[in-house]
Amino acid sequence: MEDCTFVIFGATGNLAKIKLLPALYRLDVAGRLPAGLKVVGFGRRDWSDEFWREQVHTWLAEKPVDETAVTRFLQRLHFFAGDLVEEQAFHGLRDYLTGAAQFSPNLIFYMAISPADFGRVSGYLGKVGLSNEQGGWRRLVIEKPFGYDLESAESLNARLNRDFDETQIFRIDHYLGKGTIQNVLVFRFANLMLEPLWNRNYIDHVQITHSESLGTEGRAGYYDTSGALRDMIQSHLLQLLTLVAMEPPANLDAESLRDEKVKVLRSIRPIHQSAVNAHAFRAQYAAGRVDGESAPGYLDEPGVPANSVTETYAALKLYIDNWRWRNVPFYLRTGKRLEKSNSMVSIRFKHPPQQLFRETQIDRLKPNWILMNLQPHDCIRLEMQVKQQGLEMRAETTRLDASYCGVTQAQLDAYEALLLDVIDGDHSLFLRYDEVSWAWRVVDPVLKAWSSERDFIHTYPAGSWGPKEAERLMVRQDQRWRNTLEEDAE
Ligand SMILES: NC(=O)c1ccc[n+]([C@@H]2O[C@H](COP(=O)([O-])OP(=O)(O)OC[C@H]3O[C@@H](n4cnc5c(N)ncnc54)[C@H](OP(=O)(O)O)[C@@H]3O)[C@@H](O)[C@H]2O)c1
Repeated sequence: MEDCTFVIFGATGNLAKIKLLPALYRLDVAGRLPAGLKVVGFGRRDWSDEFWREQVHTWLAEKPVDETAVTRFLQRLHFFAGDLVEEQAFHGLRDYLTGAAQFSPNLIFYMAISPADFGRVSGYLGKVGLSNEQGGWRRLVIEKPFGYDLESAESLNARLNRDFDETQIFRIDHYLGKGTIQNVLVFRFANLMLEPLWNRNYIDHVQITHSESLGTEGRAGYYDTSGALRDMIQSHLLQLLTLVAMEPPANLDAESLRDEKVKVLRSIRPIHQSAVNAHAFRAQYAAGRVDGESAPGYLDEPGVPANSVTETYAALKLYIDNWRWRNVPFYLRTGKRLEKSNSMVSIRFKHPPQQLFRETQIDRLKPNWILMNLQPHDCIRLEMQVKQQGLEMRAETTRLDASYCGVTQAQLDAYEALLLDVIDGDHSLFLRYDEVSWAWRVVDPVLKAWSSERDFIHTYPAGSWGPKEAERLMVRQDQRWRNTLEEDAE
């Protein structure tokens, strides 16, 4: 790995404190950082290198640390004081980075700042010559939201592209850790027995659920302008859908992988404005009880406007119009203040075609399911039917769990793996612009319809599994939501 200089815009903010610096520290402890990597914090506070190091020391010390390793890590840190609204600060930054031999000319610019400032900062970097790759590479890292809808995503991208080309931009999606993506890929493509079944002939439907028991946690200001569809479905859940539905890529390099994901997104049947109600459902949590404690409704959370119709729950039914998946419904669902926090992909198979057991006590044969639980634990479970013990011909569901189910692993933090990939220049886990753009195209008609229908929104009690009415998206009566691994199927 080449030496580089890791510049953090927003070095005094929450993301830098709770994610970026702890991840860099742990990578250093694990011996994964290049020896000449330096971290330059950019901030408008008048901090010295020494003061910034003391700050970072206190941030890191909130968890158990090895003091010798921390002292060594802190030597990598420097602080540059500047205001990002002032062009002059960027001239100063350029002179600072290029004037001293201690900084590698390979530069990473991490935008730990408000998305409203992404375009301004990339513009100034371009203007002072810091996006230009002469003498070293330059990489720009941004976090979602990548726009607010298709139009704003296009304009943000056009703005970034004035100074940075696609190969220099890393769009982070920290929701899917590297391990999870690799698990899905290995499960799908390293098991030959699955491939013949993984299509419309055998699969009845697919559900992708991300549930959270938390509410807006002091971020209501941001959340109320976003809502569940933008915050989770447009980004994270559509990413998961592409991994479950895509064709095997030619190899695991970034472009092959992302090409296949884009093909899935492009094949999603557009939701016509007049069909939004048949394909999408939204709701907002009302007061209820979560984990035995009473929880206020969304409208009573601090910072939420009294007349808000922002959805805290969204469900979407999508069809992928390709050879493999035509007419198989994919149900995507997410919500805040639900009973439990969990992420799971549930794949339901069809019923066997022959009613062999018609004359027996097996009155209704249950279908097979494959459940891929992603958070908080990785687990893969197969539900099959076996004969119950005894003289009678009865069936029961048995579960085959992959051996690591339920084991709490000390998982690699998503940021550690992602930061290492940025340093290494590996784009595979980062979103290419066409992925972002096609994902916006999927949800845009729903966003438009919901933003114009502002008189009414369904509610659900906090701590429940969401509104009953969301079942209306299901295309058949024998389909219903699976919530957690433990819960029995119908
Ligand atoms: N926090 C998280 O867990 C998290 C998770 C995922 C994604 N993100 C994303 O990460 C980004 C940052 O979020 P955050 O939670 O870290 O926000 P934050 O705590 O509000 O931090 C914003 C940072 O921007 C700096 N800043 C603002 N205006 C500036 C200016 N004019 N000149 C120089 N610096 C300026 C602030 O400096 P001051 O300290 O001087 O105000 C602060 O360091 C956002 O895009 C967010 O969506 C955050």
